[in-house]
Amino acid sequence: MIRACDVDDLPDGEAVRLLAHVPISVFHTEGQYFAIDDTCSHQDASLADGWVEGCFVECPLHAASFDLRTGQPTCLPAKRPVRTYPVVVSDGAIYVDTAVAQEAIA
Ligand code: FES
Repeated sequence: MIRACDVDDLPDGEAVRLLAHVPISVFHTEGQYFAIDDTCSHQDASLADGWVEGCFVECPLHAASFDLRTGQPTCLPAKRPVRTYPVVVSDGAIYVDTAVAQEAIA
């Protein structure tokens, strides 16, 4: 588990980037937390810099959208999914289990 930040430091609608074996972005949206690969599967944009709406994040570079729950792209130009990671909230902090990357479910 890697500590991402305090719960109080990640307001709803925001994201934080952390460095693990790969960059991972952690999102807080509608009271839930999600962690996915930070690098867009289309090119090299950081998804933590994207726009969150509901359970989706829109890439800031070419506007591909990814489902934060599954990692699946929901529109072009991205065609490949990003991995998702389990998130645990404990004692006021957010942790990501970076050892348990989950490939997107088709
Ligand atoms: S880099 Fe994300 S859509 Fe192109």
